[in-house]
Amino acid sequence: MCGEPRASEIGSTITVCGWVGRRREHGEHLAFVDLRDHTGLLQCVVDGSVDVRSEYVLSVTGTVSARPDGTVNDKLPTGEVELTDCTVEVLSVAEPPPFPLDERAEEVDETIRLRHRYLDLRRETMQDNLRKRARISSAIRSSMDGQGFVEVETPMLIASTPEGARDFVVPSRLHPGNFYALPQSPQLFKQLCMVGGLDRYYQIARCMRDEDLRADRQFEFSQLDLEMSFAGQQDVLDSVTTAVGAAVAAVGGEPIGDIPRITWREAMDRYGSDKPDIRFDMELVDLTEVFVDTGFNAFKAASIKGIVHRGGSESTSRNRLDDLTESAKRWGAKGLVWMRVEEADGGGVSLSSPIAKFLSEEELAAIADRLGAEAGDLCYLVADDWHRTCHVLGLLRLELGRPAVNEGGLRFLWVVDFPLFEDVDETSGRPVPAHHPFTMPHDEDVALLDGGPEELLAVRSQAYDLVLNGWELGSGSVRIHRAEVQSRIFDLLGIAPEEANAKFGFLLEAFRYGAPPHAGFAFGLDRLVALLLGADNIREVIAYPKTQSGGDPLTSAPGPIDRAHLEELGLRLLPQGT
Ligand code: AMO
Repeated sequence: MCGEPRASEIGSTITVCGWVGRRREHGEHLAFVDLRDHTGLLQCVVDGSVDVRSEYVLSVTGTVSARPDGTVNDKLPTGEVELTDCTVEVLSVAEPPPFPLDERAEEVDETIRLRHRYLDLRRETMQDNLRKRARISSAIRSSMDGQGFVEVETPMLIASTPEGARDFVVPSRLHPGNFYALPQSPQLFKQLCMVGGLDRYYQIARCMRDEDLRADRQFEFSQLDLEMSFAGQQDVLDSVTTAVGAAVAAVGGEPIGDIPRITWREAMDRYGSDKPDIRFDMELVDLTEVFVDTGFNAFKAASIKGIVHRGGSESTSRNRLDDLTESAKRWGAKGLVWMRVEEADGGGVSLSSPIAKFLSEEELAAIADRLGAEAGDLCYLVADDWHRTCHVLGLLRLELGRPAVNEGGLRFLWVVDFPLFEDVDETSGRPVPAHHPFTMPHDEDVALLDGGPEELLAVRSQAYDLVLNGWELGSGSVRIHRAEVQSRIFDLLGIAPEEANAKFGFLLEAFRYGAPPHAGFAFGLDRLVALLLGADNIREVIAYPKTQSGGDPLTSAPGPIDRAHLEELGLRLLPQGT
């Protein structure tokens, strides 16, 4: 391979194949050609009359020779040698590439990179990303095999699985007017595998969801998906930790050790997020008690919390504060209170803020005290209902303190005891499930299922998330394995028995034939690989991703299909744009 020859091989005749990186003329009759493959570069000294240009594919046979004194290149593993007396065979000619195939490509419009992804893949970074991704997948597979999980492939053409996104659908030719859904996850099939006695299932599963694309979201993505019988939350957490640990080790990361665990409630209270980035502190501090008897109307709220930006006063202009206030409003707050912390005349600190005049001395002192404010800090306060206060300060915390993607190491966190329902619909009074409808409520909270909206929102589920550096890496839950409990949940969610039967009748029926208690999990492989490699977008670790707008510039998908094909499928198009 091009990156392999060393001084110890001087004198031997070798053949290397690869792409021409750079060509430099050397005097009248010779040229230096850097030949490249995924292992590195080798300098070949060729006859100047040979017509080879950038990205030509060559087979070069020559003698490994020491480079002349003063021309050794320390930066290159092959830098002590070069190939001389070369015979060059051109295997393929090449047009000049539309963008430079090195790190400068990252400045190029991404659509152009994706349009010629095969060229982009030749770059060292992409080679590295895909090779490391393969190592990570392989380590995960070995870990799962070693833990006694069985790899099972579940179908791609299925009936809909509810994961909260839109389905991609496939029209059926043999059953005109009928459609398959592509799996949003293998959820129902893996549960059926448990009824089927497989005991421990896993799959690196491709999933398809028609949702808005973002840095951490594609239409198609891969999950490590797993399910275990006669197992509870702790068993799942242990197995996932082992698999993730193997993935980290595969790319030379530090051992991940025990992953800390907090409840959803605590995550919201302390970080204002159900996926806290714990690479930095800036925790939310509760100030509600300080204002129980306040005269300041805006602080007569159910929940008041604050955060401190250490030393932020000097670096934060009034304009920036106005911008942050606008952001807070966009995130749902009525407003944002900020306070600059200054040295007080008689020692201690004082708070300077446009709203300071509405607060008593005691209130100001209590804010400074509870927040641990020091001169030069900047404090931010939000007053609203608990949910909104947490949410807005959580986003502000990220805005002010979040480290870059490749800084601060890998900080995993388990978030447990998610609420079973994320909301109760005001008009219908129906709860909205936070995970999927197969999630088991906490044993102690089952009685609350008979209550009103407040009780319903207080029901904790046996659902858990794995968070890495503020990204939701994966989710799972202990499942409902008894048909009557499942029917009760469907009933609460307003899924009528007929609808439940039509959509999940097969699962409910399966549960009637002896379902073991089971629990499972899935984490996003693309997200894990991106974070392990310090990439801020999962597209960088996917060979052929879609652009932000959902297209593939390389193959021009999605595209129209011809009328005959439509007819065969029993489809007719509506006029567009009406
Ligand atoms: P969930 O829907 O939380 O759970 O998905 C699990 C993980 O898959 C990844 N993920 C995605 N990655 C890239 N692009 C997307 N569009 C995308 N959507 C999800 C995330 C996410 O945490 N069946 C359940 C798991 C279970 O209960 O066992 C499920 O799929 O990292």
